[in-house]
Amino acid sequence: MIYLLKWIFVILHIITAAAWFGLGLRLAGRARSVLAMEESVAKALVDDAQRSVYLMNIFIVLTLVFSLGAFFLGGGFAVYSPAYHTSLLLMLLIILDQFLLIRPGWNGLQATLAGPSDTGEAADGFRKRIAMGVGVGHLMWLIILVLMFWNQLARAF
Ligand code: HEM
Repeated sequence: MIYLLKWIFVILHIITAAAWFGLGLRLAGRARSVLAMEESVAKALVDDAQRSVYLMNIFIVLTLVFSLGAFFLGGGFAVYSPAYHTSLLLMLLIILDQFLLIRPGWNGLQATLAGPSDTGEAADGFRKRIAMGVGVGHLMWLIILVLMFWNQLARAF
């Protein structure tokens, strides 16, 4: 029963991690488009992408929860190698990235567009914050993916 539950968590954490990655793919590009658009279109686009950011919040927290479930049901620190311990650390950094860079970056962009119209510089600052957050987050995500297969890769060489 525990074995089955562990594999359910394994599958779920892969699905939620993939959803977070996919939702973030167009975010920096959308922030750039928003700045190049006429005000009413920009506001509609920024509100729409806000929902993607909201889903990213949910998916990244679920990824952490399911990862922890798989990790501890699979035996925890005693069973899994340092590759998994490092993944856990990187996962916590992605959570920080999501909640300290990506989400506030998008909220800032939204607030700037809702305010007076001469705030181009501030909006560009938020755009950069979003681009950096998504870039760093995706990089950490890819490192975790390699770490998930690290033991199998090490055995192959
Ligand atoms: C970007 C986030 C992540 C992705 C894309 C990801 C992906 C994967 C993949 C593809 C597998 C299957 C590996 C295999 O079949 O050998 C796996 C397994 C697993 N992952 Fe993750 N993972 C992520 C984050 C995490 C984190 C943070 C942990 C917590 C340490 C974790 C714990 C596990 C565990 C325990 C397994 C099962 C390993 C086993 O017993 O064979 N994952 N993950």
